[in-house]
Amino acid sequence: MENITLLELAENYGTPLYVYDGDVIAAKVERLRAAFKEVNMKIKYACKANTNISVLALMKKLGVDIDVVSPQEMKLALSAGFSPEQITFTSSGVGFDEIEACVNEGVLVNIDNLSTLEKFGQKYGSSLPVFIRIRPNVAGGGNEKISTGHGNSKFGIPIEQKGEILKLVNKYQLRIVGLHQHTGSDIKDGSTFVQAAEVMFELAKDFDNLQYLDFGGGFKVPYKEGDVETDMEDLGVQLSARFKAFCASYGRELELWFEPGKYLVSESGLLLASVNVVKNNPNGTLLGLNTGLNHLIRPMMYDAYHGVYNISKAKEEASKRYNIVGYMCETDDIAKDRTLPETEEGDIMAIKNAGAYGFTMASNYNSRFRPAEVLYYQGKSHLVRKRETMEDILKNQILIKL
Ligand code: LLP
Repeated sequence: MENITLLELAENYGTPLYVYDGDVIAAKVERLRAAFKEVNMKIKYACKANTNISVLALMKKLGVDIDVVSPQEMKLALSAGFSPEQITFTSSGVGFDEIEACVNEGVLVNIDNLSTLEKFGQKYGSSLPVFIRIRPNVAGGGNEKISTGHGNSKFGIPIEQKGEILKLVNKYQLRIVGLHQHTGSDIKDGSTFVQAAEVMFELAKDFDNLQYLDFGGGFKVPYKEGDVETDMEDLGVQLSARFKAFCASYGRELELWFEPGKYLVSESGLLLASVNVVKNNPNGTLLGLNTGLNHLIRPMMYDAYHGVYNISKAKEEASKRYNIVGYMCETDDIAKDRTLPETEEGDIMAIKNAGAYGFTMASNYNSRFRPAEVLYYQGKSHLVRKRETMEDILKNQILIKL
């Protein structure tokens, strides 16, 4: 998207505004497919990263299936036009009612603990296919908060409990059609995927009816110039070779599944915000934006780096250092020590990598409205969510008579 388009969007829809570039999403889908063209690979978009139903509809148009983690996400996927067969419910510690809700819609469920697997067996026996999520005890992920496959993680059935899984499979004649693992998010090193895959290949030998092996999401995307990212092409070569060899020894062609979130949408998104105040403090200059941790929590929650640039001064040379902060009544740093063109109040700033875990993690903290969202695709921009209003804030509150 051109800076001029972005300025027009900020003008037309106001700020703060989330903007997603659908062509970037389409290019990421293509790159992943090209890297795994040697195997039967299916993309199951981990929609928790961005659940705008028009983004979901774009995924569907691009031929991508979807992974949901709650009945509500499942309903959004159905609203966006996905059929139940295109949806997988990857549960983690959910109540059995949620499993039933998804089963009732005809959605395949992925179970992450033995007691739910037992309940599934009691209720459905061998009548339905089911997936199980394994904890491979492989460490991956950019930081502790987003690392899920290691030996102390709550996620998945620990691989050491293979015997217990098999007992339940025999007891209820469970039709385990897929094994799943997700090691973490922001995984730089492709070898982590291969290592976790080896654990799955070993385990898979004990299951006779597999059709799918799901290696989760977690590919690292670049957040700044020259940043490390998962080398997808190299991973494609390494993992496809191992996968093919496994299928040959297993005696059946399986589908290889991935569930990327960030990889598909992070770089597609910008959060546009206006500069409310330029504060020349003795120890440095602050830019105070009309957004904050209520709209993009990643910098405060994970110390995440997000690139920030001034689109109003795009042609001017970066000459001055700034700390960029939000407008919340709480410390909410957005970016520290960035060199930008001389910035004025009213300038429009773009915060990068805002397509994943931006809006979906936004809140009404400080009783502020969540932003509007725009999807730009093939030269056209579409408003895909209106900015909230005071009605939304008051909607479910009840004023009692005291
Ligand atoms: N599959 C499963 C089972 C997951 O739990 C996740 C993410 C994904 C796939 C997609 O991971 P991705 O490709 O997006 O890395 N809010 C954090 C990330 C939390 C990820 C949770 N699970 C962040 O903003 O960094």
